[in-house]
Amino acid sequence: MKYNENANENLNILAKGAFITSQYAGQTNVMTIGWGAIGNIWAKPVFIAMVRKSRFTHDLLDKSNEFTITIPHEDMGEALALCGSKSGRTIDKIDALGLKTAESEKINTPRLDCKGTHYECMVLYKTDMKPAALDEITKERWYSDDDYHTIYFAEIVNTVEK
Ligand SMILES: Cc1cc2nc3c(=O)[nH]c(=O)nc-3n(C[C@H](O)[C@H](O)[C@H](O)COP(=O)(O)O)c2cc1C
Repeated sequence: MKYNENANENLNILAKGAFITSQYAGQTNVMTIGWGAIGNIWAKPVFIAMVRKSRFTHDLLDKSNEFTITIPHEDMGEALALCGSKSGRTIDKIDALGLKTAESEKINTPRLDCKGTHYECMVLYKTDMKPAALDEITKERWYSDDDYHTIYFAEIVNTVEK
């Protein structure tokens, strides 16, 4: 399936909550995301994800440089709540929720095995936000705790609709 099929619908769902799955050295973790973008950069289909440095997901992503995104097309409210409030450092969220995962086709990191659109992503470029480059209103609204995002630009190497 093409990466930008249903992109508008999927971006609307993402704004309410989607999942980023990361894996490194046998540890797999799922985190809720609400921000992101799908676009065409460097003549490639790209997903842009924003992950704060405090997240366990950040630790795993920085080592693996790949992730899957799941845009749920079924009610995953309980999973979105837990994966958006507990850290994989203290709990195995996949186990606790009884979530099923499936192997990706093009990368090592698995995807959630639920109804939805799944993007397999390989990081092309990542950058830590520079506070000095940020406008003051956004800084005060979102970064009063100094927990800045790393922004990951990742090629969507495969899109699976389940
Ligand atoms: C709706 C929603 C959207 C979220 N979006 C993001 C996001 O885009 N980036 C981020 O770093 N954290 C986001 N969070 C917070 C993380 O999901 C949360 O801190 C999580 O417990 C981190 O898990 P981890 O430590 O296992 O990586 C969001 C939380 C919710 C509830």
